[in-house]
Amino acid sequence: MNIIVCRNYEEMSLRAARIVAEQIKAKPNLVLGLATGSTPEGMYAQLADMNQKGELSFKEVTTVNLDEYYPIAPANDQSYRYFMNRHLFDHIDIDKANTHVPDGAAADPAAEGKRYEELISDLGGIDLQVLGIGRNGHIGFNEPDSKLILDTHVTDLTESTIEANSRFFASPSDVPRRALTMGIGSIFKAKKILLMISGVEKKAAVSALLERTVDTNFPATMLNLHPDVTLVCTADVLD
Ligand code: GLP
Repeated sequence: MNIIVCRNYEEMSLRAARIVAEQIKAKPNLVLGLATGSTPEGMYAQLADMNQKGELSFKEVTTVNLDEYYPIAPANDQSYRYFMNRHLFDHIDIDKANTHVPDGAAADPAAEGKRYEELISDLGGIDLQVLGIGRNGHIGFNEPDSKLILDTHVTDLTESTIEANSRFFASPSDVPRRALTMGIGSIFKAKKILLMISGVEKKAAVSALLERTVDTNFPATMLNLHPDVTLVCTADVLD
């Protein structure tokens, strides 16, 4: 794992945005895997800025997001589709038809998982996948468990994730109990992974990740097996 340590959140956001921009410049029709959460928000602002200054174009880029709550309407302001439009897609020259998020309103979530998996494969796989990390070590919504599912699937959220994500909702009871998420196998098929971690509350997660062991009860540790992972983090997570 390559590790890039940054002084603060702003520097981490800029370094991560530059890595994404380099990949798009090298391959304008990049298949870019994206994540939600507060961690990548600053990177999205940097990418939008580069696009608005004419330094970077998303015209040929296709995006696939990691996950979405289930059930949730895409127009709901808590959906990950809404988050992506607000933080990135509404501010760049991407064709929205080329932006994909699992459909939180799908009638049959298992069929939606299958459709999403086929979509990724029809796109030729993900070139670069951006990831954050949950406090409990989840990636996407692959929650700690004795078994991890390889393909895109519907999953129950753990109480700790519902509690952590309740900060975005009026009350914890409003947080959806389930989600659609790429599986560990879908994430692993990405050619490159850019993992972003910031904030002291992720310290324990980072030490578990850097132990150089794998533990399905801490799904991010699986990344120790991937051949091309870059971790961009703030210095405070390593103290
Ligand atoms: C959610 C997302 C994850 C994300 C995590 C961390 O649970 N499903 O993909 O990594 O939140 O979010 P934050 O960056 O806000 O800590």
